[in-house]
Amino acid sequence: MTTKIAVFASGSGSNFQAIQEAIENGKLDAQIKIVVTDKPNAFVVRRAENFNIPVFSFIAKNYDSKSDYEQEIVGILKAHEVEWVILAGYMRLIGNTLLSAFANRIVNIHPSLLPSFPGKDAIGQAMAHGVKVTGVTVHFVDEGMDTGPILSQAAIEVIDGNRQATEARIHAIEHELYTRTLQKLFMEFN
Ligand code: GAR
Repeated sequence: MTTKIAVFASGSGSNFQAIQEAIENGKLDAQIKIVVTDKPNAFVVRRAENFNIPVFSFIAKNYDSKSDYEQEIVGILKAHEVEWVILAGYMRLIGNTLLSAFANRIVNIHPSLLPSFPGKDAIGQAMAHGVKVTGVTVHFVDEGMDTGPILSQAAIEVIDGNRQATEARIHAIEHELYTRTLQKLFMEFN
């Protein structure tokens, strides 16, 4: 059965695009019902429009609290019959409102081998630390910052002093690992 998902993103949306392409190529049995973004001008919005996928954009500071905007999001996700929330470069902590509405059904991708380098700019953190190997983690989301149970990981070698090339390696592996992990997960739950 096709799994109905929402993709949350704050930036370029290359992972969103990889997921949508995997769906179109028959590698992932899912349907992106809606993209949610906290950055109305992010490039992910244009990518979503190119695929004719609806977008819900919001500006957090226009709401009194996190639970206020998350309540609105939950309503929209329910109206679209969304079953899983897939975070793809969504740079906000998920609060209790979303966590309880989608208990154990929120997944994130993070550009490091967790528990190393949680939080912002994980690639920069890893390079500043001088690690030789870093990678990507797909994990369930809990109330912590990049702390939930790990679903899958993949490693890459850091290219010393070359952030751009290291980042390209991370992105390439992310796109493949995320779609493969999601397919396995959805098959287990269906
Ligand atoms: C990805 O590298 C993702 O792992 C990272 O943001 C990037 C988004 O790229 N997420 C985090 O750092 C979450 N803590 P994209 O917009 O091109 O998919």
